[in-house]
Formats: sequence, C-alpha cells, structure tokens
Amino acid sequence: MPRENNRDAGLLKISYGMAAGGGASGVTARALEECGELLARGDDHLRKSAAEGRDGVGWINLPGKDVADVEEAGKWISGFGAMVQAGIGGSALGNLMLHGALLPPYWNELPREKRGGPRFYMADNVDPADNRMIWNLIDPADTVFTVISKSGSTAETMANFLFFWDRLKVELGPEKAAERVVVVTDEKTGVLRPFADEIGCRRLVLPADVGGRFSVLSPVGLLSAAALGIDIKKLLGGAAEMDGILASKKTVTDNPAWLMAALSVAHYRQGRNMTVLMPYEDALERFCEWFAQLWGESLGKNGMGSTPVRALGAIDQHSQIQLYTEGPDDKFFTVMTVAEPAEEITIPETEEGALASLSYLFGQSMNSLRRYEALSTAAAIGKSGKPVVTMELPVLDERQLGGLIQFYEYFTALAGWALDVNPFDQPGVERGKNYTYGLMGRENYSDQALEVTDLAEKLSMREVSV
Ligand code: PA5
Repeated sequence: MPRENNRDAGLLKISYGMAAGGGASGVTARALEECGELLARGDDHLRKSAAEGRDGVGWINLPGKDVADVEEAGKWISGFGAMVQAGIGGSALGNLMLHGALLPPYWNELPREKRGGPRFYMADNVDPADNRMIWNLIDPADTVFTVISKSGSTAETMANFLFFWDRLKVELGPEKAAERVVVVTDEKTGVLRPFADEIGCRRLVLPADVGGRFSVLSPVGLLSAAALGIDIKKLLGGAAEMDGILASKKTVTDNPAWLMAALSVAHYRQGRNMTVLMPYEDALERFCEWFAQLWGESLGKNGMGSTPVRALGAIDQHSQIQLYTEGPDDKFFTVMTVAEPAEEITIPETEEGALASLSYLFGQSMNSLRRYEALSTAAAIGKSGKPVVTMELPVLDERQLGGLIQFYEYFTALAGWALDVNPFDQPGVERGKNYTYGLMGRENYSDQALEVTDLAEKLSMREVSV
C-alpha cells in the first residue's frame, strides 16, 4: 500500500541564513536582490516559452495534462506479478525516485496482498548479470515489459530491451510476447514507435517538447507509478499547486524557486562549484539521484555548472561531514527533512547495566534522533562558515512530492537562465551516445568511431598493466 496522504499540510518550508552583518558565507542580500531582477526576466521567458510550446519547456505544462491513458495502462499492469522497465537516465531515474519516495521500502519483498501492485525491476545499466537475474526472478507470462526512450534509440535501453524481447518471444511466442510490451517514446523520433506499430503492442506518447530529465511527470515516470498504486493525479495536483505558487510570487524572497536559483547561482559565482543535497529520509535517497541528473545535465555546459553531490543523512554524517565542515569552502548545502515521517519507533528501554549509559535514548522517538541529527549537521556546516539551506516537507506523500519535483525543475531551469546556458539540451550526452553508436558499428556513425580513435591517439592515452 502506498503511504497515506495528508491534504492539509503545506508544501515546503525553506530556511536560509543571511547573517546580521549582511552576508551569509559571502552572499549579501544585495547580491540576491540583483539576481532576483535577472530571474524575473528568466521567469517571464520560461512561462512564455511554455505557453508557445517551445522545445524543452513542455514540462511546465505536464501537471495540467490528461492522464486517463496512463491510468488505464497502469491499472492493466497492476494485475501482473512483475513489471520490467528498460530505460536509462531520464527514462529511469524519475521512476526510481517516485517509487523510493512513495512506496514502502523493500517493495519487491512484500507479499502480494501487501503490495497491491507488481514487483518492479529496472534494467537501466548494461549489465548482463543484472538482466539475467531479473529474467530468472520473473514469470514471463505474468510480467509486463516497458521500454522507455525519448529518442527511441539509446543503445543501453535497446540492448536491454532486445534481451528481454528475445527471451519473451522464445518463451511465449511473438503474439503473446507483444501483448506484454508497452512502448513509451516520442511520436516521431527513433525506432520504437514503428516497432510498436509493427508488433501491435500498447504505446504511450512522450510529448515532443519535454526533455528526458524533465519527463518524470509524463507517461515516462507516471506509468510505473500508476501500476504500483501511486495516485498520479495527486502527484500532478501537488505539482500544479506548486506551479501556481511559483507563478504568483514575484520577488526573490517570496518565490522559493527564485530564491533557490539565486542562492545557488550566487554561491556558484563565489567559487562554490558543488551542490550537496542531503536528505535525512531514506525514501528521498533516489530523489538525490534524480536531482543529480537534472542539475548536472541541465547546467553543465559552456564551462559552467556546479557538480551535484548526493548525500544521505545520517549515513554521510559518519562519512562526509568532516570534509563538508573542515574541507574547502567550495560547496553549497541543502539538508532536507520530513516533519512527519511515515513510520515511528520509540527506542526501547533495557535493563542491562552495561547499557545504562544509553539511557538518554530510552523512550525517545527514532524520528527525533534523526531530526536532531539533521539539525546538528546543518548547525555544524553553518558554524564552519559554509552556506546551508534547510528544507522541510511537512509529510512525504504524492502531493508534497509532486510539488517538490515541480519546484526543483523550475529552479534548475531558472539557474540555467541566470548562468546563461540552455538548460534543455545535452550536447555532451549526445556526443557520448554517438561515439558509442560508432564504436558498435551503427550505420552512418563511422565518422564518430574514427573521431574516438583519433582522440585516443591525440590525448596520448597511455597504458600500464601490472
Ligand atoms: O535528459 C536527457 O535527455 C538524457 O539524459 C536522457 O534521459 C538519456 O540519455 C536517455 O535518453 P532516451 O530517453 O532518449 O533513451
């Protein structure tokens, strides 16, 4: 069962420091205000571009889209024992983020009656061991296979899908195999749409104006969410609510997206070229992975961009905090918490004398311990003079997460505007894809293969074997 919704709570609380002397770790109120003026123009441009259906900006409109077809397909998949998805990057990370945040942990290990939806397996990396294991764990006749690719051609996704498609045809025959496949892709590009026509399988369309890493609230992310029992309308409702708030607030201190974009950019300009996201909530661990792609691919171009760093409290408190507090001042931190987590445990008391010194824990809430750890981490980072923002979600449910997704996408796009880069393209990713096509012998990509070989020589890549 997905977690309960709380309809009355707010969406998000952000705290950031402006020291009495006028600066927080080097960023002054004035610098924020100035960035606000730039962001006002960026915001205007974004909204106009979305209204005109410009390439890459369609994600702003996703919360208002009709999702009846996704719900219908999700309902159909929910009756199966397992769902396997082939996809990578923006065609995988959003799914894992939604499941991680909104489904109980260890989903696949729960008995069917406690899940109410299929087990889920993501085939994103190209690893034969993973694919074989997935195949061994499922009953092909009781499994739906989704293949998701915006471009309809990514080598990793296609290789993984070809493996499952081949096995499935051998096991069930081509007709029954096709009945278990769902394709999600762009209407025009790549081989997947004609493939879907050829085998007559189900298909859903990824809007042309939505890019991969901004596609989680399209059929890309919503299909598996719906199949696994997540209320996708509430998710979109939360995103729409956040979007309404962002559209109505017009100052850098009022509008949370302007604020986060301004803080991120101002600190980046001061040499803080890493952005650390550290939730104290295991359910948000995958949110960091999703954010890392969104931030890294959107902003890393023309020599600009801050490197996203995924951290998880309290684990990284015992791993990275030494570096974060006493290392170089090159990072901007966000510590994220959930005020009312889904579960609570009261730490039990025990009578053994050897454990008497632990009495400070007896009877305390495990969530309080986690909250105090988050507070301690933010305080320790602040004390060391490094910039830290704290974000608190009242609860973590569909509405809050939908709002958080829209908020993160929005301020990432605004940060792109402020850095004067196009947040909606990814030429570096495409280059890598094209090199791979060339090296794998794909037709019309021989120039790319030659370029890689040539580069390897020019860069004098040396080898050492031991
Ligand atoms: O954001 C992007 O465009 C990329 O990272 C893609 O998500 C990733 O390369 C997968 O591409 P596709 O969905 O076309 O298979």
